[in-house]
Amino acid sequence: MNFEKPWTEKYRPAKLDDVVGRPFIVERLKSYVERKNMPHLLFAGPAGVGKTTCALALAREMFGDSWHQNFQETNASDERGINVVRERIKDFARTMSIGGNFKIIFLDESDALTPDAQNALRRTMEIYTSTCRFILSCNYSSKIIPPIQSRCAIFRFGPLPDGAIEEKLNMIADNEKIVIKESGMEAIKYIADGDMRKAENTMQAAAFLGKDIDEDLVYQVSSRARPEEIVDMINAAISGNFLASRRLLDSLLIEKGLSGEDIITQVHRQILELELPEERKVDLIDKIGEHEFRLVEGSNERIQLEALLARLAKKQ
Ligand SMILES: Nc1ncnc2c1ncn2[C@@H]1O[C@H](COP(=O)(O)OP(=O)(O)OP(=O)(O)O)[C@@H](O)[C@H]1O
Ligand SMILES: [Mg+2]
Repeated sequence: MNFEKPWTEKYRPAKLDDVVGRPFIVERLKSYVERKNMPHLLFAGPAGVGKTTCALALAREMFGDSWHQNFQETNASDERGINVVRERIKDFARTMSIGGNFKIIFLDESDALTPDAQNALRRTMEIYTSTCRFILSCNYSSKIIPPIQSRCAIFRFGPLPDGAIEEKLNMIADNEKIVIKESGMEAIKYIADGDMRKAENTMQAAAFLGKDIDEDLVYQVSSRARPEEIVDMINAAISGNFLASRRLLDSLLIEKGLSGEDIITQVHRQILELELPEERKVDLIDKIGEHEFRLVEGSNERIQLEALLARLAKKQ
């Protein structure tokens, strides 16, 4: 077994065909490869779902061996500002593409740019449009100003389906000669929640502890509670047993060392699966939203979580 290289890199798909769970995106990207041309692209979606991977695979297929000379990755949130970003783009765009008609500039975290910086970027995109194509990557396309959006073909990368994660993990397990038990697979899919990077990292960390990966191993290496622990805590609160639910919360915060945000996210996921009347669920989700906001804004996590449990414990 080789633990030197992170599996996320070792198993990053080199070809578009190796990208899993994205049939429509892959098909559109392949049509650009066939035509040897493409518009500017905007890739929007959460972390670890294939945005950088697809950009790299597209460049490899578009340019073949010379892809390195024709592809530049720049982080838009460079703390030295948009001018540095533009300088880098200018330098890169100045020389001719080798073996193609244009070069590709992959701009990561483009939603970190302020609207002013985006306007500056928009001009840069226009100046170099004959020699460069931009692929902008962001978490939220709504944070990209409309004039940039309208210059790009938009690709939405949603969370990956569990089936896609399973397919890739099985492939890795075969290759690494490890056994992943069904309970281990279920646990990783739950923890990953559509994020392939998290899935691969969790499996690699678990594999470091043992060759047979089961649920126990997975939860040992992850900063997630088991769904049952969250359900028990919620149920204790809802049935009016506030002190019991508080004890369970303590064990998650102190013994497991989970963060408040992680816990509230898991509570949110679990609510929909509880056997409760719809009205009550709606009300609970409303309350979770309020407490999550306060938590993220920096208020004391224990107080917020206890307050949430107290609200769950109150009969309406
Ligand atoms: N659709 C996919 N098919 C196969 N592997 C994937 C896929 N998506 C992600 N991966 C794996 O997860 C790793 C991380 O993915 P990637 O770098 O593409 O994420 P990203 O969408 O760019 O995330 P971020 O917004 O954090 O930059 C890749 O190295 C690859 O191993
Ligand atoms: Mg990325």
